[in-house]
Amino acid sequence: MGLIFYNMREQIQYKSKEEIEVMRHSCLLVGKAHVEAIKIMREGITTMELNNIVETFILDNGGTPSFKNYNGYPYATCISMNEAVVHGFPGSHVLKSGDVISLDIGVYKNGFHGDSAYTYAFGEISDEVKQLLRVTKQSLYEGIKKARAGNRIGDIANAIQEYTEKKHGYGVVRELVGHGLGRNMHEAPQVPNYGKKGTLQKLKEGMVLAIEPMVNLGVKEVSHLDDGWTILTRDRKTSAHFEHDVCITKGEPDILSSFAEIEAAEKANSNLTWSHS
Ligand code: MF3
Ligand code: CO
Repeated sequence: MGLIFYNMREQIQYKSKEEIEVMRHSCLLVGKAHVEAIKIMREGITTMELNNIVETFILDNGGTPSFKNYNGYPYATCISMNEAVVHGFPGSHVLKSGDVISLDIGVYKNGFHGDSAYTYAFGEISDEVKQLLRVTKQSLYEGIKKARAGNRIGDIANAIQEYTEKKHGYGVVRELVGHGLGRNMHEAPQVPNYGKKGTLQKLKEGMVLAIEPMVNLGVKEVSHLDDGWTILTRDRKTSAHFEHDVCITKGEPDILSSFAEIEAAEKANSNLTWSHS
């Protein structure tokens, strides 16, 4: 979500089994929207063209883009290139070899939001950046492993921080956090990507969390572009972002979003390199 919501004091909204199935549909539609963008990722395409194909796909499938007009955000997607962490504007940037593309998409349909981000590597990418992407993606799953009834938000946060910062020496962004998800795109609780085990809210069946590590190759500090939205790494080194929507159950975490189709489309596009190299 955006910069930490100091006023996020509202109650956690627990979802029924029926509501979870409606949400799953919105979350899966986000993955399919990613696929539409992946299919046209090639040299010469602009990030605005990626945005537009996603927006058209969402509307054609009976949804609306969650981000557009949210607190005045002007586009259907956030496309954060290279040193941009999150909330980048799509625009005239032409994809070129070496680009790192964090694409974040939200879909609102049947009263519920889905929200999922994935970072793509375009063309020739350094080993250093490939490793950042692998580790950031894996850190999301390290967090998800802790997303179980009885655990606490701090257990998720700690697992992500341990894996990225302590184990691999990357910078975990502090100012931006994951969030509850449901009838609103941002619900309580906040889900930081750093913190202590055993702290913060207790996880209960029916909670849905958007877990979204934002991890920098260099320093954890960020700065703001004067467009009012784009967040950049302070040292201008590359940043990565992966996001899943996860429902807390009595047993295994139920990941409502999916990377399966994204990964298949990524493999099928020879311009995208990292996860299958
Ligand atoms: N996934 C981001 C979030 O959780 C995207 C929000 S962009 C915004 O906040 F423009 F809608 F704020
Ligand atoms: Co989010």
